[in-house]
Amino acid sequence: MKFIKVMKEEELPIGKSAIISAGDKEIALFNYKGKYYAITNTCPHRGSPLGEGRIEEGIVICPNHEWRFRLLDGANMQNPELFIPTYPVKTKNENIYIGLEAEEGNIAYGKKASNLPSSLKFSIPTIQKPRNPDEELD
Ligand code: FES
Repeated sequence: MKFIKVMKEEELPIGKSAIISAGDKEIALFNYKGKYYAITNTCPHRGSPLGEGRIEEGIVICPNHEWRFRLLDGANMQNPELFIPTYPVKTKNENIYIGLEAEEGNIAYGKKASNLPSSLKFSIPTIQKPRNPDEELD
């Protein structure tokens, strides 16, 4: 996994967030109660920046229509099948690093990895993005 240095720890005090562009990804990085969390910045509903959302009890609330995602694993609080990508965060020498591959099991804008035997997995569609987000939830 490739980790990139994104900023110094002192630049992201507790309660602050930052939006990081890395290649084609936009990642929202939060310092929530002294711990760092990185999730996709793009809300799967209408694409609003989750990095500008507020946090309650470890849940980031999209600034636009208030969809809610758990920082820890990207789980959507309204739809148990919807997860957004989360990214590993490390610190070293007072710098913050983000791993650029999304955590395994959190498939981008799709359903959580299935526990079915691998031979059956082909029958589970892997959705990169909801074609029409309104169909997925609402
Ligand atoms: S864009 Fe995030 S809830 Fe609508």
